[in-house]
Amino acid sequence: MSRRYVIGGNWKMNLTLPEAQELGSGLRNRLGSHRGAEAIVYPSFPYLQTMVKRFDDSRVAVGAQDLHTEQSGAYTSGVSVQMLTSIGVTHVLIGHSERRAVFGDSDEIVAQKLSVALANGLIPTLCIGETREERHSNETFSVLERQLNSALRGHTPQALSKLILAYEPVWAIGTGLTASPAQAQEVHAWVRGYVGSLLGSSFASQVPIQYGGSVKPANAAGLLSQPDIDGALVGGASLKAPSFADIIKSAH
Ligand code: PGA
Repeated sequence: MSRRYVIGGNWKMNLTLPEAQELGSGLRNRLGSHRGAEAIVYPSFPYLQTMVKRFDDSRVAVGAQDLHTEQSGAYTSGVSVQMLTSIGVTHVLIGHSERRAVFGDSDEIVAQKLSVALANGLIPTLCIGETREERHSNETFSVLERQLNSALRGHTPQALSKLILAYEPVWAIGTGLTASPAQAQEVHAWVRGYVGSLLGSSFASQVPIQYGGSVKPANAAGLLSQPDIDGALVGGASLKAPSFADIIKSAH
């Protein structure tokens, strides 16, 4: 059986609608009948419904970059899980480092968002990662432990069966700095071990762990050849159809 890879494209706050449509069409054309890695794109909220239609009947799934902790009510600007599922969105990013750093999503909020996604059948990608300061003060593993523990605690392996994890060292996001394959592999192996201690080794052996942080066509294959790197969460390089398609195709 070939290995499972999951590649996400996080468009962040980029692209106009025509640009997003062009990217969507470009990806569809380039991926054609490609049967390798699973692919998910995460457009901004206003384009989700358009993208769900554009990728209808394709191998590319569509996810949201965030969701609100509450189901409905007086939360001006919030986007609820039911709004997302009602337009055909299937995936969601939870706890991206920019949500944590720029919008103040605490570990508690991240945990609530994960619970809401799971309870409503959205497939979550839980993002974890240390900052440069934390790495330099040797806190990488304690930070990851705190982030994993607070989000996953209280859930059964069954409830988390569709979970995707993304290890994204914050110092590598959007900076052009990438963890070397060996550096990333070391952390991924640790994450898998720690997840095993929380949820059991059979769960840990099958949960996909993506790497994120300046992944591009030139470094994707090296990262994805590591035994515990099961995919990538791609920001900048997912905004151009040729580079994102190349990354998807390099996963095999
Ligand atoms: P980047 O972003 O590929 O532009 O570094 C990755 C991410 O934030 O998911």
